[in-house]
Order: sequence, then structure tokens, then C-alpha cells
Amino acid sequence: MDTSSPYALIFACLLWAMMFDAGTCNFNNRCREKDTQVLLNFKTGIMDPSGILSSWSNQQNCCEWRGVTCDRINSRVTHLSLPCSTSIPNYMDKEDKSHCLTGTFSLSLLMELEFLSYLDLRNNDFLAIQFDSVHNHNYYYNLSVSNRPRQFLNSSTLRHLDLSFNENLVINSLQFLFRMSSLENLYISGVDLHMETNWLQLVTMLPSLSVLQMSYCQLKDLSPSLQHANFTALKILDLSGNKFHSELPKWLFNLSCGVSSVSIGLCSLTGQLPKELLNLRHLEELILLHNDLNGPIPDWIGELDHLQYLMLDENMFSGIIPKSLGNLSSLTHLSLGSNKFTGVVSERNFAKMSKLKSLDIQSSPPLIFDFDSHWIPPFQLEELWLSFSGPHLPAWLYTQRSIQSLSIYGSWFQAPDKFWNFVSRVPELTLEDNSIVGNLSNILLNSTVIRLSSNRLKGSLPRLSPNVAVVRLSNNSLSGSISPLLCDRKMLNWKSNLVYLDISLNHLSGGLTSCWEKWKSLIHVNLGSNNLTGKIPPSMGLLSNLTSLHLHENKLYGEIPPSLQNCHSLLIFNVRENNFTGNIPNWIPHAAKALQLRSNHFSGSIPAQICQMSSLFILDIADNTISGHIPTCLCNITALNNVSHREFSTTLLYNFSNRSLYFFEESLKLVTKGLALEYENNLQFMNLIDMSSNNLSGTIPLQMFSLFGLASLNLSHNKLTGKLPDEIGNMKNLESLDFSVNQFSGEIPEALSKLSFLGFLNLSFNSFTGKIPSGTQLQGFDAISYIGNSDLCGPPLTKICFKSSDDKSRDTKPIDENGDKSEFFSWFHTGLESGFVAGFLGVFCAILLNRKWREA
Ligand SMILES: *[C@@H]1O[C@H](CO)[C@@H](O)[C@H](O)[C@H]1NC(C)=O
Ligand SMILES: *[C@@H]1O[C@H](CO)[C@@H](O)[C@H](O)[C@H]1NC(C)=O
Ligand SMILES: *[C@@H]1O[C@H](CO)[C@@H](O)[C@H](O)[C@H]1NC(C)=O
Ligand SMILES: *[C@@H]1O[C@H](CO)[C@@H](O)[C@H](O)[C@H]1NC(C)=O
Ligand SMILES: *[C@@H]1O[C@H](CO)[C@@H](O)[C@H](O)[C@H]1NC(C)=O
Ligand SMILES: *[C@@H]1O[C@H](CO)[C@@H](O)[C@H](O)[C@H]1NC(C)=O
Ligand SMILES: *[C@@H]1O[C@H](CO)[C@@H](O)[C@H](O)[C@H]1NC(C)=O
Ligand SMILES: *[C@@H]1O[C@H](CO)[C@@H](O)[C@H](O)[C@H]1NC(C)=O
Ligand SMILES: *[C@@H]1O[C@H](CO)[C@@H](O)[C@H](O)[C@H]1NC(C)=O
Ligand SMILES: *[C@@H]1O[C@H](CO)[C@@H](O)[C@H](O)[C@H]1NC(C)=O
Ligand SMILES: *[C@@H]1O[C@H](CO)[C@@H](O)[C@H](O)[C@H]1NC(C)=O
Ligand SMILES: *[C@@H]1O[C@H](CO)[C@@H](O)[C@H](O)[C@H]1NC(C)=O
Repeated sequence: MDTSSPYALIFACLLWAMMFDAGTCNFNNRCREKDTQVLLNFKTGIMDPSGILSSWSNQQNCCEWRGVTCDRINSRVTHLSLPCSTSIPNYMDKEDKSHCLTGTFSLSLLMELEFLSYLDLRNNDFLAIQFDSVHNHNYYYNLSVSNRPRQFLNSSTLRHLDLSFNENLVINSLQFLFRMSSLENLYISGVDLHMETNWLQLVTMLPSLSVLQMSYCQLKDLSPSLQHANFTALKILDLSGNKFHSELPKWLFNLSCGVSSVSIGLCSLTGQLPKELLNLRHLEELILLHNDLNGPIPDWIGELDHLQYLMLDENMFSGIIPKSLGNLSSLTHLSLGSNKFTGVVSERNFAKMSKLKSLDIQSSPPLIFDFDSHWIPPFQLEELWLSFSGPHLPAWLYTQRSIQSLSIYGSWFQAPDKFWNFVSRVPELTLEDNSIVGNLSNILLNSTVIRLSSNRLKGSLPRLSPNVAVVRLSNNSLSGSISPLLCDRKMLNWKSNLVYLDISLNHLSGGLTSCWEKWKSLIHVNLGSNNLTGKIPPSMGLLSNLTSLHLHENKLYGEIPPSLQNCHSLLIFNVRENNFTGNIPNWIPHAAKALQLRSNHFSGSIPAQICQMSSLFILDIADNTISGHIPTCLCNITALNNVSHREFSTTLLYNFSNRSLYFFEESLKLVTKGLALEYENNLQFMNLIDMSSNNLSGTIPLQMFSLFGLASLNLSHNKLTGKLPDEIGNMKNLESLDFSVNQFSGEIPEALSKLSFLGFLNLSFNSFTGKIPSGTQLQGFDAISYIGNSDLCGPPLTKICFKSSDDKSRDTKPIDENGDKSEFFSWFHTGLESGFVAGFLGVFCAILLNRKWREA
């Protein structure tokens, strides 16, 4: 699996949770009054913003209500199934659950449905569960049960309980499980159980428990030394995504031999595979991927002959891949990639695997392949992750006629025509970061997903068949114009399905063509870092679904055509480093997230329409000839004035026929802390305004200092005037502030020292006066941050302040200690260097932290 697999896994789970739809069965029998009352009370207690329960009313037979199923004979409620279905957004924004059920629900109330055997509230947004007899319900019902205090009844009927993926739900205690002695299936994944330290003991009390799914529950303790756990009926155990930091637990090997599936992936497990695993004779699935397990894959693994899934990828296993694996004739999925295996792989490792469908033996450095060139494998694979050393593909690859997904990584090989013919039958192709040598001129690509970035491909752009949805060909040596791909005459009669096109970082030249009409399905277009010239053709305005357009680092010129207004979905617009002229477009959709016009010849003033883009978090119009004032309305940009985490991301999702989710990070090159860096994974955490190197004049509007979310503000190299107000101290998230080379005056406000994250400050070459606030972190910056303000004094500047005795204020008269220019410039250069290093480290840490944050 590729490096995105942890996310892929999490989102595959979410996908599964989202795609599920409530099925309801109705019978023509009359619901009991008591059940009706219990359900109505349940409804009263919770919040139902979108009227999911609108059919629940006294007028109707409760057996016909949405989500309710009754027993045919006694007409009692047996099933309550109300999962929420949500759709997958284009960008990995926070899932929209505003229509799902929420609030607090009373489980003790539902337990009064004496015949309830199936309860499914999955993927809603419940915040808490009420278990006891607390009388804070603002409802009454006057049946016999109401006369005694409501208590949690022992349910002898509930067999299936699914509360999974209520992500905001915190359950402090699982004690209530005690009362559910018949429970067979417990699904509680994605619910926060970090307070429940006794979870294992509690679930083992359920004598009939057969399926336990507790993945991503923030569990911490796996009780690794506990010898015995009383799961007598357990068949399926899923504890993935909890950070246990321990070895595989002893109790696991002492489970009844009926266990068929064990899934403890992404759990930071340590240690080796213990031989006791052989106790689990009937194991069909062993999923331990993405842990820190080490040591060899033991020979005895070949004795687990019921195994169908063996997923050990992304661990630290070492040694050779044992031949005994070849004995696992039931195996359908074998995943060993991203470990530290060494040695040779040959046909003997797969001798009896006639059912194998999915194989991952990707590693870096690649394993040595020693396959007989005439070997015909006993399997027909559907998915293959491969890496190998050597100039030729293994011959047996061409015997595989059913491959749906092929991924090759870290390998070097020549791609002959035979190879391109072969892969045209493979719908998902991931061949990035290899050194594939090939010429794509006149090649027709036919895969749905084509990822070929960072190889050594040359020639002109390939042609695409109507099947193609995703094309990544970035960072190769492709040349010529973009018309072979876009203007292929053979495609005149069919409709394109292309949504994602990235051909950046090549040597493409010529114009943007007028062939865009054929490609209306496009969502993401990246033509950046080529040698393209000419104007943006009006036909690009036909791309009504376009969300991101990257045209940076080319030689494009002219005005941005008004037809682009028809790209109503545009969120990221990046034309950095071209030769565009005219005004800043004022039609950019209100939902836009990033606008990058840096280093062009845009002129005129900043249009007030920018303030309506409430989701904008990157506004980079630096290095143009923009004039006029900074608009006061910038404070209307809520994404910048909100301190809380943004609820949207810059990761584009592509859902491949409900089977695989692809993640594409948007990326932008931004300048912050004096450094230009490509922001990709961490882009969504950057809030930036860069208006530097323009002709802006006037003062900074006070409202701008209410952009509390801003991390980087650069207004340098303009003609701005006025004093800095104390309000600047409110911009608590600022990490980088550059006001250099303007005409700001007055004292540096002491409030500036309240900005505790500030790692880069440049106030140089203005007309600031007085003393740099002493005793604050502001003196921790190098002199470079303050030079060129002739009336500014005090450390770190070498000018000392002369405090006149009759002067009460900080107003001081600077004395130029030594006017030596050469010393001044040596300051300048040392300051510059250390600033760069610090800036780089800062960004690097931010990247690491964000990774952690996101994995958590
Ligand atoms: C139910 O009981 C409550 C309180 O005991 C009472 O106020 C209410 O009138 C009763 N409702 C009915 C319909 O009997
Ligand atoms: C439910 O069962 C528990 C333990 O089995 C017992 O202590 C409790 O009294 C029972 N409660 C009811 C209401 O029957
Ligand atoms: C299994 O549990 C029993 C106690 O019930 C214990 O004596 C035995 O050592 C355990 N076996 C393993 C392999 O942990
Ligand atoms: C294990 O379960 C059995 C049967 O339900 C029960 O008799 C026994 O007391 C349980 N043991 C523990 C340690 O919970
Ligand atoms: C495969 O299984 C057979 C019979 O069970 C055994 O004799 C042989 O040694 C096994 N092969 C390997 C490589 O473990
Ligand atoms: C192109 O892809 C389609 C669908 O995946 C497949 O049916 C067809 O055979 C492929 N064409 C070629 C020439 O491989
Ligand atoms: C481009 O590919 C080369 C190797 O072919 C790699 O070293 C480099 O990092 C890639 N650049 C980008 C921006 O992906
Ligand atoms: C690629 O192949 C075409 C013929 O298909 C040839 O004209 C062209 O010169 C080749 N390009 C390179 C860079 O080798
Ligand atoms: C644009 O997106 C919508 C929603 O995803 C889709 O229904 C529509 O077909 C797309 N338009 C084109 C031209 O592909
Ligand atoms: C870009 O195109 C110009 C002609 O338009 C050409 O002179 C130049 O060499 C090209 N540069 C690259 C890097 O291909
Ligand atoms: C950019 O456009 C200006 C005129 O608007 C022209 O003088 C200049 O040569 C162009 N620069 C490039 C790199 O094309
Ligand atoms: C900014 O917000 C204020 C108050 O919400 C509103 O009156 C004003 O019209 C907005 N300005 C712009 C340009 O959107």
C-alpha cells in the first residue's frame, strides 16, 4: 500500500459508514401503545434538525415509522435502524452531519422496548448517552411503567448494538454492557472511550459476544500481560487505530479457537510475532498493518492454513520472506510491503497461492526478484504493489489479465510499447516516483486513474481514452504543446470523464488551446511550471466544475478573461509568476479558499469583492503594481478572523468506483518567514495575507488587526503610512510579520510582544521612532528586524537611547554610536542567514506536528 494508507483506511471506514442507507421494513400490524410511547419519548429527547423522524407521530402505526421494524406475530418493536447517511465532499472538508440526529439520547429509555434486538444509530452526531433514571426528561407518559423510576432494564433481547462513527460522542463507562447479556454484535468504532480504562474486562463479560468492533476509540490499554480473557464466542475482533504501544496481548492467543478475524492495525504494537498465534487455528484474517512490529516472519506462519488475509505491511519486519508462505493455499490477500525484508523472492514464495487476488511486496530498497522467466503464477491478481531492482519488468506480470490496480514504486525500468499496451487494461495505475524511461508520443492511455509523476518520461503528451478520470504526469520531461492530449481529433465523438489533470513541471510549450469544451468534467487543472505562453482562452470558462486552477510559472499574459466567472466552483486560483495584466478579478466565487496572483503585472486597487470570500485563507497578491488603500472590509473574511480550526481542507478526494479513495493534496508555494516554500500537507494550516511589493498607500485599516487567525502577514515594500496600533497584540496566531520598506512611523507598540508565536519580524526601513520595547521578546530578534529606522534605538540595535530627564514617555533621542556602514551591512548578512535557518526549522516542525495531529 502506498504511504497514504493510514488515511485511506480511516476514510475507507468513513466511506463505509457514510454509504450505508437506512433500510426499513414495514408490516401491516399495529404497534403497541407502550412501544409507541417509548419511541415518542426517545424522539422528544433528541434533536432532529432535518426531520428524519417526521413520520414518527401518534397518528400512525409505529411499526410503519421510519427505521422501525416490528415482530410479525406480537407486533412489538424489534429493530430500530436510524444510521445517518452523509455524502463524501470533493475536498476532505469536515464531514457535514448537520442533518443527522444529535443531542443526548437515553439508552435506558430504549431498553424499555422489551423486544428490541437490533439498534443501529451509526454515523449520527450524538453527543452523549444517558444511561440512568435521572428525571430530567421534559416529558411524561402515564402508562404503568412510568410509575416507577426509570431504571436501566436488563435487556435479554438486544443482540446488535451499533453506535459507531458518532465522532463527537464520549462514553465514560461501558458498565451498561453488563445489562445486555445477549449482545452478539457490538460496533462502537470511532466513539471516544478514552475514559473507560476497564473496557476489556467489561466486554469480556458478554457471554455471546461474537463481533467486537472498537477501532479508533482512543483506547490505550490492551492489557498485554493478561493471560486469559473470557471471550467464549468471539469470532471477529477489530481494535485498529487505538494507540496501545504494547506487544500483542497474551489473552489473544488464549481465545477460543473459533476466532476467525483479528484486526489490530495502526496501533503502535511492538515486539515480534509470537508462536502462540498458532493457537488461533481457524484464523482467516490477521491484520496487523502499520505497527512497529519487528523480527522475522516465522516459518510456522505457513501452518495457519485457513488464512485468507495476511496484512503485515508498514511494520519493521526483517529477514527473508519465508518459503512456507507458499503453503497458504487459501490466501487471497497478502500484504508485506514497507518493511525491512531482505533477500530474494521467487516463485516458491507463492507456490500454492492459487486464490491470491491482492499482493503487496513493495519495499525500499526493493527485494531481489529471482523468478523463472517462464513461471506462470497459480493466481490471477486483482491488486499488485510491487518494487523490484533491474531494468526489466518480471515476465510473469504480463500473465496477469485481471489486474484492477497496479502500483510500482522505487524501481527503475524501461517501458516498452508492450508495457503501455498491458497497462491500458489496468484501471488504476500508480507508477509515481520510479525512474521509468519511456516515450509517450502517440501512446493512448486508457486507465481510469493514471499516476505517472516523477519519472523519466519524454516525448509529447499521450492521448487519453474516455475512461480516464485522473492524470498525473507532473515532473517528467514531456515536451511539445498540450494539444495531443486536449485536442485529439479521435475524441470528438465521446464525452470525457477526466476530473483531475496535472501536467506541471514538464517542458510543455505553446498556448493553452481552445479545446477545453471537451473537458467540462475537470475539477483540478495544474499546468504550472512549464513554458506555456499566450492568453487564457475564454473556453476555460466552460469548466463549470473546476475547483482548482494552477497556471503558475509560465509565460502567460493578458487579462484574466471574464468568462472564468462561469467557473462557479473555483476554490483555488493560482497564476503566480506569469505576465498577466489588468485588474484583480472581482468575480472569484465567494467560497474560494486561496487566491495567488503573485509576481504578475496586475494593477488597480484591491476590489471590495475579496471581502465576500468568507473561506479565503490564502490571499497572495504580492509583487504586482496594485495601488490604492487596503480595504477595511478584509475583516469580513471569516476564515482569517476565526481562531478555531478551519473546517475544510485542501485535500481533494477522488472516489474510485466506491472501491478506493484517492487523496490529492493541493499545493502552493508561499513566502513566509522570509522563505519561499511549497506548502502541501500543511497548506490547510496556513493562513496568509501577502500584499508585499506593490504600490499600496494610506494606513492599515484598524479592522485588519481583527484577523486573529492570520499566521503570516506581509505588507512590505509598499507606501503605507501611519502608526501601528495596540490592537496588533490581538493577532495571537501570527508567526511571521513583515512591514519592512514602508513609511510607518511612531513607536513600536509594546503590545507586539504579546504575539508569543512570532518567529519572524521585519520592521526595517520605515520611520519608526523611540525605543524598542525593552524586557520583551521583541529584543530577541536580530537587529536586521529593525534597521533602517533612523530614529529607533535600544537593543538589539547598536544605537543606545538617550533618556532625557524631563521626558516621561518612552520618547527618546537616539544617538548613532558608530555610523560605520560596513558593520551595518555585515549585520545585515549574518541576520539574513540565521533568519533563514530558523525559518526553515520552524516550518519543518510545523510539518511534523501537523502530520501527527492529522494521524491522531
Ligand atoms: C400524565 O401525568 C402527568 C403527571 O403525573 C399529568 O400532569 C398529566 O396530566 C397526565 N397526562 C395524561 C394524558 O393523563
Ligand atoms: C440486572 O442484572 C444485574 C446483574 O446481572 C442485577 O444486579 C440487576 O439487579 C438487574 N436489574 C434489573 C432491573 O433486573
Ligand atoms: C490460558 O489461560 C489459562 C487460564 O485460564 C492459563 O493457565 C494459560 O496459561 C493460558 N494460556 C496462554 C497460552 O496464555
Ligand atoms: C467466563 O465465562 C463463564 C461462562 O459465561 C463464566 O462461568 C465464568 O465465570 C467467566 N469467567 C470470568 C473470569 O469472567
Ligand atoms: C508445506 O506443507 C507441507 C505439508 O504440510 C510440508 O511438508 C512442507 O514442509 C511445507 N513447506 C514449507 C516450505 O514449509
Ligand atoms: C480500456 O479500458 C476499458 C475499461 O477499463 C476496457 O474495457 C478496454 O478493454 C480497455 N481498452 C484497451 C485497448 O485496453
Ligand atoms: C521530481 O523527480 C525527481 C526524481 O525524478 C525528484 O528527485 C524530485 O523530488 C521531484 N520533484 C518534485 C517536485 O516532485
Ligand atoms: C518519441 O517518439 C516519437 C515517435 O513516436 C519520436 O518522433 C520522438 O522523437 C521521440 N521523442 C524523444 C524525446 O525521444
Ligand atoms: C459537475 O459535477 C456534478 C456534481 O458532481 C455532476 O453531476 C456533473 O455531471 C458534473 N458536470 C460535468 C460536466 O461533468
Ligand atoms: C521556452 O520557449 C522558448 C520559446 O518560446 C524557448 O526559447 C525556450 O528554450 C523554452 N524553454 C524551455 C525551458 O523549454
Ligand atoms: C511581460 O509583458 C511585458 C509587457 O506587458 C513585456 O514587456 C515583457 O517582456 C513580458 N515578459 C515576459 C517574460 O514575457
Ligand atoms: C462586511 O460585513 C459587514 C457587517 O457584517 C457588512 O455590513 C458589509 O457589507 C460587509 N462588507 C463587504 C464588502 O462584504
